[in-house]
Amino acid sequence: MRRRKHDPALAQVITVFLAAVEIKDRYTYGHSLRLAGYAVALAEEMSLPKQQVEDVRQGALLHDIGNLFIGERILQKPDELSEDEFEAVKQHAAIGAAVVSKVKGLEDVAMIVRHHHERFDGSGYPDGLADDRIPLGARVVTVVDAFGAMIEERPYRKMLTMEEALAELERGAGGQFDPRVAEVFARLARERATGWPMAHDGNVLLAEVVIDGTLT
Ligand SMILES: [Fe+2]
Repeated sequence: MRRRKHDPALAQVITVFLAAVEIKDRYTYGHSLRLAGYAVALAEEMSLPKQQVEDVRQGALLHDIGNLFIGERILQKPDELSEDEFEAVKQHAAIGAAVVSKVKGLEDVAMIVRHHHERFDGSGYPDGLADDRIPLGARVVTVVDAFGAMIEERPYRKMLTMEEALAELERGAGGQFDPRVAEVFARLARERATGWPMAHDGNVLLAEVVIDGTLT
């Protein structure tokens, strides 16, 4: 049986997950909240059914939940990761999905979490899926995840402007990204971005809005 569109119990579970993320890793927390806003706007622009928009919103909020189980030394390492460290980081997708899939009603969301690092050309992880074998919700989250990371300040690289980040998305179309999803997002961002939550916005207020599902 499909779950109801707005389920307060599920919203509570997601709030608890996110509270844990906030304590462990503020980068991931703020990033996930912003992503949810972008992801919902993109999913709606693509005219996805309401339930899928909701899955995408929750998938964006929870995509990196698996980072809770990755050592802080690796997550916060300022320089390049060794091969072994990168292998450990890659586990976060499958671990996160395993945790989320334990919650009744979040099975489709768990698939988004599992596949958010797949690449459209099939060279991603954990399963090396390509094209439309990657769940559509995961292809949506992949695009906004990459965009969000590019416009945020990270210790190991400089922050891109929105236009530079969109150009990167367009360069990655067909490689990392589903070209149709990347194209819709780039158009939407150019039209709408002034009203969007960008890096350095007040995340606390935004958290309530996004978790409750009312930001579009
Ligand atoms: Fe991730």
